[in-house]
Amino acid sequence: MTPTISTFLYLIAGVCFIMALRGLSSAATARAGNLYGVCGMVIAILTTLLTPAVAKYSGIIGAIILGGAIGAYIARKIKMTALPQLVAAFHSLVGLAAVFVAAAALYNPTAFGIGVENAIYTASLIEMSLGTIIGAITFSGSIIAFGKLQGLIAGKPLIFPKQHLLNALLGVGLVALIMIFSLYQHHSLFWLMTLISLVLGVLLILPIGGADMPVVISMLNSYSGWAAAGIGFTLNNHLLLITGALVGASGAILSYIMCKGMNRSIINVILGGFGTDAATASAAAEASDKPVKLSSAEDAAYMMENARNVIIVPGYGMAVAQAQHALREMADILKSKGVKVRYAIHPVAGRMPGHMNVLLAEANVPYDSVLELDEINSDFGSTDVAFVIGANDITNPAAKTNKASPIYGMPILDVENAQTVFFVKRSLASGYAGVDNELFYRDNTMMVLGDAKKVCEELVKALKGGGH
Ligand code: TAP
Repeated sequence: MTPTISTFLYLIAGVCFIMALRGLSSAATARAGNLYGVCGMVIAILTTLLTPAVAKYSGIIGAIILGGAIGAYIARKIKMTALPQLVAAFHSLVGLAAVFVAAAALYNPTAFGIGVENAIYTASLIEMSLGTIIGAITFSGSIIAFGKLQGLIAGKPLIFPKQHLLNALLGVGLVALIMIFSLYQHHSLFWLMTLISLVLGVLLILPIGGADMPVVISMLNSYSGWAAAGIGFTLNNHLLLITGALVGASGAILSYIMCKGMNRSIINVILGGFGTDAATASAAAEASDKPVKLSSAEDAAYMMENARNVIIVPGYGMAVAQAQHALREMADILKSKGVKVRYAIHPVAGRMPGHMNVLLAEANVPYDSVLELDEINSDFGSTDVAFVIGANDITNPAAKTNKASPIYGMPILDVENAQTVFFVKRSLASGYAGVDNELFYRDNTMMVLGDAKKVCEELVKALKGGGH
């Protein structure tokens, strides 16, 4: 295959990836978007395999079979609720690949056409340095993110004095190292740069608290894209450049949108440990022993079938319990009884962007009854019942009132304004951010304690049995 043809095919693959991103931007077109992504990837792999630079196929095919088998196994086994940590784990591999490619280019520059040993082109040395720095930060940062999301490392922010100063010094050190490495090309400088970047990756992600992890994941996604673009420069591969830039830019845009949604500063995310100081880190409150009003599925059924309008607020617990089908059945019965039922989606409900939308779409909930925070938040005041199912942090008013809270500043769904609020969860335990929710103790809040799916099934039974 001539270079012109392969460049052309890479361009087609690049267009497929752009179409994939476009498709994935809405639940209605997500499947088509996914298909475009698959087509782009098939074209990209076949084109790469057919380039003359590939001398032997055995190793590559073996790696594809092994990697493909592991990927297929993980994709089949993974639980929907564990997807964020899987994404973090996969990002770490992109970062590691960037470091390996840069190292390979350093040790065998002729194979990459970037000069000869100890006389590598300066531009290539700088590209190599940037690729390995971003790659190593992505690698170690993603491992920490994986540990936090998997519950292996404490979710609360880990803060120590002069943390930002240390990060700044390491950053300055890296810039100096790039310059010295570009002059002297010593392998030891390259590995020192990699080591410092690994440490920086850990230091950037450790201080970030649980509630802010979604932004971190999308930021790491962006970093992994830029690392891939860096590999594209080193390998002189146009498709890697296009794809890396696409992932890098879209991840950065998503991070920006999420930062806006959560009222955080993007600069602080990039620098790590944003909006967090030692006082905030330790402010996660213990569960209170104030009295709560306990209620039952039957009571909730009675209140909701006699309501004019109900807003359902799903959260992570709905995903854990896989309650979406029973929930939709409940909503359908309420609608058939003349109740106006809508769903309110918080931008970080669940554990990944769009988590609730995907689950509700899977249960065939009509898209037009699923509304984003901005679209529905002002309606809670005129709502009879807010039905909060497996959600917690996204409704917690501490985000508005308690400056010491780790979720301070995050916009919340104003369920407290509804006439009656039902909270369906198993206990009075806090949510992901580890903050007690004062709404549990309010006069207009009823707690229905139990597994979300079980409660919904009981509700369906009660609604089918009762009249209007
Ligand atoms: P959370 O605040 O984590 O609350 C979920 C609640 O569900 C828990 O309090 C838990 O209480 C309950 N629950 C768990 N299993 C249940 C079950 N089987 N049946 C009924 N209830 C169950 O979730 P949220 O309100 O959706 O907020 C999301 C949080 O995750 C935010 O802090 C957000 O920043 C963070 N986060 C989000 C993302 C993205 S991108 N969405 C990624 C990472 C982190 P019990 O134990 O008492 O049942």
